[in-house]
Amino acid sequence: MPRLNAFRSRFFWKNYSAFALLFLITAVLISWIVFIKVDATINGFTLENLRSKAEFLVPMARTTLQNGSSEAQGLLAELGKSTQTRITLIKEGGQVIADSDFPIAGMENHWSRPEVQEALSQTFGLSERFSVTSQRPLIYLARTVSDPKGQRLGVVRVSLSVEKLHSNIIGLAAALATITFLGVLIALALGWALAQRVSIPIWEMVQVAEAMRDGKYTQRVRTITDDEVGRLGDTLNRLGSELTGKISELQRLETVRRDFVANVSHEIKTPLTSIKGYVETLLGGAINDPDNRLRFLEKIERNSERLTNLVQDLLSLAKIEATEDTLKLTAIAWTDVVTSVIARNEDVLHQKNLRVKLDVPPMAARVLGDREAMTQVLDNLLTNAAKYTADGGLITVAVASRGMWTKLEVADTGIGIPAEHLHRIFERFYRVDKARSRELGGTGLGLSIVKHLVSAMGGEVHVESTVGIGSRFTVKLRADY
Ligand SMILES: Nc1ncnc2c1ncn2[C@@H]1O[C@H](COP(=O)(O)OP(=O)(O)OP(=O)(O)O)[C@@H](O)[C@H]1O
Ligand SMILES: [Mg+2]
Repeated sequence: MPRLNAFRSRFFWKNYSAFALLFLITAVLISWIVFIKVDATINGFTLENLRSKAEFLVPMARTTLQNGSSEAQGLLAELGKSTQTRITLIKEGGQVIADSDFPIAGMENHWSRPEVQEALSQTFGLSERFSVTSQRPLIYLARTVSDPKGQRLGVVRVSLSVEKLHSNIIGLAAALATITFLGVLIALALGWALAQRVSIPIWEMVQVAEAMRDGKYTQRVRTITDDEVGRLGDTLNRLGSELTGKISELQRLETVRRDFVANVSHEIKTPLTSIKGYVETLLGGAINDPDNRLRFLEKIERNSERLTNLVQDLLSLAKIEATEDTLKLTAIAWTDVVTSVIARNEDVLHQKNLRVKLDVPPMAARVLGDREAMTQVLDNLLTNAAKYTADGGLITVAVASRGMWTKLEVADTGIGIPAEHLHRIFERFYRVDKARSRELGGTGLGLSIVKHLVSAMGGEVHVESTVGIGSRFTVKLRADY
């Protein structure tokens, strides 16, 4: 079976693209939410940081604003440097009296700055704008400073470069994007493997089903998963096996039929040819030969008999096959059947001086069977025993019941059957020694009729045999209670 080519499997692409799309959307959404949250948190931290710095500077600012300390500029410069913040001290009215980063000389009035205005009314004031003094965007936080009596003295202002804050956030966003990108790559690769795994059984089933459509039933689905897809694959495999079985059974039956026709034709042709030969010889003048004409006529009679037997056997085979399923089983005693069959064969047994030993208890249990069929079975077994046993031999017919079954045994002290032939003697036309059997008038149908009849009655037939010692045929039928 060709391996799954993921690029050419529609099913694969459908699954995979759905998965990939879903995953991409989820990844983008999640990282977007994370980014917004973290951005807000950083901004919050920054503000909180500026606020506490301003708060921290209030006592120092109060002293400076009250006393106008001359060291203020130097102190602020130092503080600003260590905290990386620009600090501005504005006196009530707007005059800058100290700045950590710039000289205060010539600095414009700061009272109208938005953060200062906001602080005047709300203690704290916040503003993000372009700084005229430092020439870059800054975030400002202003805090009013009052004396212990509550008299406002001015404002302390801290500020931070917006660029610095933004670079922090951009760095974060970049890290987030990298992680998301790597995650997406890994997920797409894993998804590829996963989608392929899901697609493999489907792909195999398509291959198998298409092979079946083309009349090839030997291909099987190899990947059986333990889910509905697996069950489908399993069913497909079983279907394949069943079809293979049915087809080979059909082929076997066809061979049997062909062999049968060939065998029948042959069996008919042989005696016909010899009849024709003798008739021609007689017509050609032998009729006037008193020494031979009787012999020829006897041969013609023998061959006609063979033909009659053959036709009779064929007819009874056909009849059995037709009625096999409709055979009505009733309680029959073997005793009756044995008596009538032996009586019927009295002449042959007598001619060959064969002794028959009966081991049939008078009260022998009855079996579920068909009288006519049982008669035919025993008749065939008994004629065989007589046919294949030398003059003066012994034939034993015994009946015994054991549990559910009743056994009929027909044993002889005849020529026996070689082991290699034993399993075939129940086949139609099968004879161990063709020439000899034909000589004796057999066609090889007797045992196949026996087997058919016995199995139609739900029983079994077996044979044991030793060459030169004898054979024993056993027929098992269901006992009737
Ligand atoms: N009791 C037996 N002893 C030895 N061989 C036997 C015995 N019964 C059957 N066979 C062998 O099995 C073969 C098949 O038997 P079967 O009864 O089917 O055919 P047949 O006796 O040759 O012909 P017919 O169709 O007239 O019965 C026989 O040809 C013979 O070789
Ligand atoms: Mg026979």
